[in-house]
Amino acid sequence: MKYRHAFHAGNFADVHKHIMLLSLLRALCRKDKGFLLLDTHAGRGFYDLSSSEAYRSHEADEGVERLLDVEAPAEGWPTGISDYIAVVETLRRERHDRAAYPGSPLLALLALRPQDRTVLIETQPSEHAALREAVAALARYAPAALAGERRAVVERVVIECADGYGRLPNWLPPIERRALVFIDPPYEDGVADQRAVEQALVTVLERLPSAVVALWYPIKDRRDTDAWLERLRARLPKPPDAPAVPALVTELCLLPPDNRVGLNGSGMLVLNPPWQIDAQAAQWLPALHRVLDPPHRGSWSLR
Ligand SMILES: C[S@@+](CC[C@H](N)C(=O)[O-])C[C@H]1O[C@@H](n2cnc3c(N)ncnc32)[C@H](O)[C@@H]1O
Repeated sequence: MKYRHAFHAGNFADVHKHIMLLSLLRALCRKDKGFLLLDTHAGRGFYDLSSSEAYRSHEADEGVERLLDVEAPAEGWPTGISDYIAVVETLRRERHDRAAYPGSPLLALLALRPQDRTVLIETQPSEHAALREAVAALARYAPAALAGERRAVVERVVIECADGYGRLPNWLPPIERRALVFIDPPYEDGVADQRAVEQALVTVLERLPSAVVALWYPIKDRRDTDAWLERLRARLPKPPDAPAVPALVTELCLLPPDNRVGLNGSGMLVLNPPWQIDAQAAQWLPALHRVLDPPHRGSWSLR
């Protein structure tokens, strides 16, 4: 595998997926009862946007850095965006590092509580080793007032060097009977990842029909992704009391969605979306599109 997320960290797709991930975590935290976060493709957890990889790609300049540079609108950012900015700023402050960027594991651990559990799975040994260090550092760098709680959150993290698809059934259903499963594959071999994702979503819903599932996918050609989402929908097991599992799709494109040059857009499919996640996304998604796509070549959609 050649994929290194360090080239893409903080790009527009990361911003889109991380805002959605954080909104889902906040929604699940509305109930006191703990839940399991299962991140099947965790990456290295901490990214240095001044690294040679990030510097060469400049992708964060059109993502998180553009968002942080822009002045907030007079009425303030929609909650999803302000919360995400606050978490990124928290990590930067704690690390005294303006180039720090949280991958999905650190973003989540900065939002989770001691009653929640986290399982992080990463298949590449070098990324897995970096992830272990990033999670341990999160406890070390916590300010004194938060140190106890942060340690308690970090102590409940399990980090595996393994195939996320293969390990997923071992963690479901969790004892809490509440879970957020976050699936963020590299799609290096797009067809193989799509097939594995289809099976993973079926497995999750068979084991825990109420699980919240967040899946990221790339948009190169909208016709291909629409066809895939349709196929996916047909495969998903139906809940006993409804005709289909509730699903929310949000898409953010910086280029026309049939421009075959590369990554035109970022898609997030959420199964069993918590209450008001769609209403919140209807606020932050257009605001995010306005900031990240100044020439307005792309589009956003929510359905
Ligand atoms: C898009 S990156 C993840 C980024 C991370 N979720 C984030 O938001 O910060 C995908 C990661 O999945 C890893 N990976 C690829 N295939 C995997 C598999 N079958 N199981 C677990 N991890 C895998 C890659 O090494 C890479 O680090």
